[in-house]
Amino acid sequence: MSQYKYLSGFGNEFASEDSRCPGSLPANQNSPQKCPYGLYAEQLSGSAFTCPRETNKRSWLYRILPSVKHRDFEKFSGTSHFGNIWEDNPLPNQLRWSPFDIVEGDFISGLRTVCGAGDPKARNGLAIHIYSCTKSMENSAFYNADGDMLIVPQLGALDVTTEFGKIYVKPNEICVIQQGMRFSVGVEGDTRGYILEVFGGHFQLPNLGPIGANGLANPRDFLTPVAWYEDKECDFTIIAKYQGATFAAKQDHSPFDVVAWHGNYAPYKYDLDKFMVINSVSFDHVDPSIFTVLTCQSNTPGVAIADFVIFPPRWSVQEHTFRPPYYHRNCMSEFMGLIKGNYEAKVGGFMPGQASLHSMMTPHGPDSNCFEGASNMELKAERIADGSMAFMFESSLSLAVSKWGQEICQKLQHDYINCWASLKKNFTGPAE
Ligand code: FE2
Repeated sequence: MSQYKYLSGFGNEFASEDSRCPGSLPANQNSPQKCPYGLYAEQLSGSAFTCPRETNKRSWLYRILPSVKHRDFEKFSGTSHFGNIWEDNPLPNQLRWSPFDIVEGDFISGLRTVCGAGDPKARNGLAIHIYSCTKSMENSAFYNADGDMLIVPQLGALDVTTEFGKIYVKPNEICVIQQGMRFSVGVEGDTRGYILEVFGGHFQLPNLGPIGANGLANPRDFLTPVAWYEDKECDFTIIAKYQGATFAAKQDHSPFDVVAWHGNYAPYKYDLDKFMVINSVSFDHVDPSIFTVLTCQSNTPGVAIADFVIFPPRWSVQEHTFRPPYYHRNCMSEFMGLIKGNYEAKVGGFMPGQASLHSMMTPHGPDSNCFEGASNMELKAERIADGSMAFMFESSLSLAVSKWGQEICQKLQHDYINCWASLKKNFTGPAE
């Protein structure tokens, strides 16, 4: 496991070289006339050149061969139901899916798009995918020209080789692989999870406001891989998602040939157990934004293209309060998933590997059993959500559900609305 070494911090200017080649990182220059060890210098830009410093992202890769040494891209037939395939078939119902099936094959062949909005060509929008697989990618790598991917493993670990090094991501951890970065996924056995893809922006830590300097996801807990390379000549396939379609190009060598790199544009992972939870210690609820791990902001201040929000184990102590999530209608879209355990607002009704979508202004909240229980329980300090990890992708965009999500996957629960059917009228009437 010596190849799994990490650099700590969020968005730092990192510098890393494979320990087999000391001095491979040019000392004080990005593009010297000749690079150490006969390497090629290549810049990977993650922002416009002229973005302000706080959003400017790029890395310099020192590699055995430049990425351009490949043959033409051709349409790739190895994926189905993946891409910009949400259709013009609006569906405002509350939606809930049973656990998604695990598909035989590798990470790329098992990608399925559930819903999305916007357009990668216009660099604005997002897509939500389910992945499942049973075997490792072999002599192939993927990159996404359309946006960043936040990957949430639910079943099985991902052994991810990237151009920047190796990342091992277990369920209850997440990783983010940004636009353009090539990666390959190794797995052992049945593997499943969720992907939030954002077009045009990058994830950042939320501002903390009056919380102060510490709390929620702390920067030092984000881990970026150290440089690792292989010098391998073989028949290799580069698979690309570009403008919502998938392409493949052949080349004669592994793209994981980066011996050294530096910059602030690099993949990372994060352990959700390290999230510092903040909540009400008197009465009522803080808005769920308090659980935001990462956010991808739109150009409107405070409005997210997508937030990644978690509901971790924590103490619940509010007095005189209906403690589960309250009934609500939201001007945002809420896609939820469950990594493990039970979700507190639908105990027994939401299993790991499931998903739900509560669309813009579609009402939702606790089911009748949860309402009855929480309205009559004796309130004392108690642990909630132990052993579980629910999450939400919340978006300011109105998400459309793909045909795969609506029909083909055959996991949509057509009786979901019934979980609220037995809510009864408790109104006592005017005082006599
Ligand atoms: Fe909600």
